[in-house]
Amino acid sequence: MTRLPKFLALATMVAGMATNALAAVKELNAAEFTLNGKVGYYEPALKKLDGVLTKVTVSDVLASANHPTKAYSGDFNTQFTWDKQSGYDDQNTKSWYPQGLTTSSDAYDKGTVEGKDVILASWYSKGSSKGVRISFIDVAGKKYRNVLLVVPEEEGPSFHSVKIHAGGIMWYGDKLYVVDTANGIRIFDTSRIYEVDVGDGIGKVGSKYQAYNYKYVIPQWGHYLPGSKVADSFKYSFISLDRTTTPDSIVMGQYNETGANNRVVRFDIDASTRTLKHTTGTTAVATKFYYFGVEKMQGAASITVNGKSKYFFSCSRTAANRGALVTWTEGSTADPREYSGVMSTGPEDFSYRKQTGELWTLGEHPGNRPVYGIKASDY
Ligand SMILES: *[C@@H]1O[C@H](CO)[C@@H](O)[C@H](O)[C@H]1NC(C)=O
Repeated sequence: MTRLPKFLALATMVAGMATNALAAVKELNAAEFTLNGKVGYYEPALKKLDGVLTKVTVSDVLASANHPTKAYSGDFNTQFTWDKQSGYDDQNTKSWYPQGLTTSSDAYDKGTVEGKDVILASWYSKGSSKGVRISFIDVAGKKYRNVLLVVPEEEGPSFHSVKIHAGGIMWYGDKLYVVDTANGIRIFDTSRIYEVDVGDGIGKVGSKYQAYNYKYVIPQWGHYLPGSKVADSFKYSFISLDRTTTPDSIVMGQYNETGANNRVVRFDIDASTRTLKHTTGTTAVATKFYYFGVEKMQGAASITVNGKSKYFFSCSRTAANRGALVTWTEGSTADPREYSGVMSTGPEDFSYRKQTGELWTLGEHPGNRPVYGIKASDY
């Protein structure tokens, strides 16, 4: 199975390159790209919520998983899909769309959280105000539970839902980074997952706390806002962690259907504080910034060897056609290389797992929603 996609890729590569003109890569001025951190901005509200709600661990959430994952038949290296049973259907629902993906390999270098192999996926609610939910997938247990993201409020104390697209997520220690299209990155605190009451309200409802019938909520902790003109012009569509640089770094990119303004930016990250590496105060300055011009880029991952980063881009094509993988290595004067048809339809945010050598993503379209890994060494 691992060889087949590569042959297909080689056979279709020329056609792919002919139909999807890949522009020459341009290096942009990283020093002009800054983010301003509201680090721990929600601590006062969180301290109040700590006093009224029960905190649970990631293991508690996994132990209470209420949905089995299901087998998916595809040609990926590893794959599964969401629950579908009488009265419940994450495979086909149009109320929620899966987008971001991160794993316990991002969270900790050893690849596990509290001893567990975990995949997290973000979903945005469509046509309602429920905001964003995160699937906590227990990989070995083949089961998952969906948990709601919330913004804490000091008044009450209470919380409300997070109405963003959540196109990409990245888990680092106990912090969950979630991109917020026009507004940088929101950071949530997975050391403070709260258990709430059953009920279809949101926040404090009388003497109870509810979250649209989700059992657990993860509160926001901080926020990185665009701090310069170019950062303001950027669309924060997806994010991943590169643990092969020193220090660790994050890579974020901008989706565009034609490739116009498709740019990718990198920031160093601070392992001791779990925040971005700050230059002055809580301001972070980008270390790399490129224009790629790749159409429909939905995710990016990077693996760095001898100081040169190899980029892997997850790209959707038409809803009916399988997506493409595009690669490019820093310092190369060659255009990015496209491997057509090796992804699912509607592939999304990327995340690399060095323990398995796999690049993980998911498909967003109702009716075809694999969660899957492809071997990075095949490309
Ligand atoms: C893609 O770029 C074009 C040209 O700049 C712009 O009109 C369009 O709104 C962009 N699409 C998105 C999703 O940002």
